[in-house]
Amino acid sequence: MSEVVKKPVQITETILRDAHQSLIATRMTTEEMLPAVPMLDEIGYRAVECWGGATFDAALRFLHEDPWIRLRKFKEGFKKTKLQMLFRGQNILGYKPYPDDVVEYFVQKSVANGIDVIRIFDCLNDLRNLKTAVDAAKKEGAEAQIALSYTLGDAYTLDYWTTMAREIEEMGADSICIKDMAGLLVPKAATELVTALKAGSSLPIEMHTHYTSGCASMTYMKAVEAGADILDCAISPFALGTSQPATEVMVEAFRGTEYDTGLNLDKLAKIADYFRPIREKYLENGLMNPKNMGVNIKTLQYQVPGGMLSNLTSQLAQQHAEDKFYEVLEEVPRVRKDMGDPPLVTPSSQIVGTQAVMNVLTGKRYMVVPQETKDMFLGRYGKSTKPFDPEIQKQVIGNETPITCRPADLLEDKLPEYEEAISSYKKMDEDVLTYALFPQVALDYFKYRDAQETGVDAASADAENKAYPV
Ligand code: CO
Repeated sequence: MSEVVKKPVQITETILRDAHQSLIATRMTTEEMLPAVPMLDEIGYRAVECWGGATFDAALRFLHEDPWIRLRKFKEGFKKTKLQMLFRGQNILGYKPYPDDVVEYFVQKSVANGIDVIRIFDCLNDLRNLKTAVDAAKKEGAEAQIALSYTLGDAYTLDYWTTMAREIEEMGADSICIKDMAGLLVPKAATELVTALKAGSSLPIEMHTHYTSGCASMTYMKAVEAGADILDCAISPFALGTSQPATEVMVEAFRGTEYDTGLNLDKLAKIADYFRPIREKYLENGLMNPKNMGVNIKTLQYQVPGGMLSNLTSQLAQQHAEDKFYEVLEEVPRVRKDMGDPPLVTPSSQIVGTQAVMNVLTGKRYMVVPQETKDMFLGRYGKSTKPFDPEIQKQVIGNETPITCRPADLLEDKLPEYEEAISSYKKMDEDVLTYALFPQVALDYFKYRDAQETGVDAASADAENKAYPV
């Protein structure tokens, strides 16, 4: 009798980052998370994704929480499990490219405060935008994972993905993630994609998808059969809909097979028990919308990420132009084509979406052009997969000359300037990074923090601090 070769699949748990980012607008508080930490630490996850992405901005902006303090608390609680963050390449956790000194310092402080795995992606899949972050992660002793933003279009052939995988390995990354932010990856395509990545590289392959289109767990099954090593899952009360497949379900689906994760269902069920009342709370207060819990087939039909659909809806609502929704949805692929068919992920998704809205509302394409659109056509976000439409580019940038180098090569170091700007508020080294990314939100938070410490209420502290020009 021949022995079956075991190829256990590993699980990365997203409950502390993407699951609540996707389902409740990133509003879960540190206080709600911490009681689950000892339970999560006992599971044997490959990693727990707990930081980065939108959590940094949302913690400061909406929860009056310092994201660095949250990370330190995770590090105190997790004794055995690797902590993972999501990093937007040269855009760090923001929406535009930052100079190298800021990227390097951010990576250094993230690792110093507890991050083990840094998942780095670029909204154009321009690997030049990942180099500084990857090198910094390696230097700090962290695992550098490069995530490819998955998208569709005639430029994205299997050869394209194989070549990307080869180049990622050559860059010195430790693993590759397929980041299917929109849930576009259908099962058959997953088989082909994982096979293509394996042909280009021998690095471990991690799958990240969203349940938006209803395909996700079938896609995972096929990806694993094709050789994927790690799956991103969310504990069941915060799974499905616009979030990830449920951890417990994927664990049981592979039980007894050669891919058996070996994870304990009873222990997972206790974590689900803990998060179920938190889910109920957010359903009751309306932050979790049952509308996002079903299948949204528009995402496959229009190839637009779920988050982008809801942004378009709210942008149109603000203009009292809800009736233009389908016109905008049809304009999105045209704008994307003009911009060289980029993946749609932060920040390219916002740039394409906003331009599509403007084109429809003004009735004349590119009559109104935000600076971000101009920067995109000037090459300031990086190199697009296909060339820009030359006529549209000319119309948008006029006589300006587009750049072809790595965008951050043109950015001067900024840390000393930021240090000076916040010197009167600074309580810890990381404050300068918080300010670098979100200046206004950071200042509001620093004032709130000062007020908490001195017992002065935030409103009067705000009035006093207006005297300081920062
Ligand atoms: Co995601």
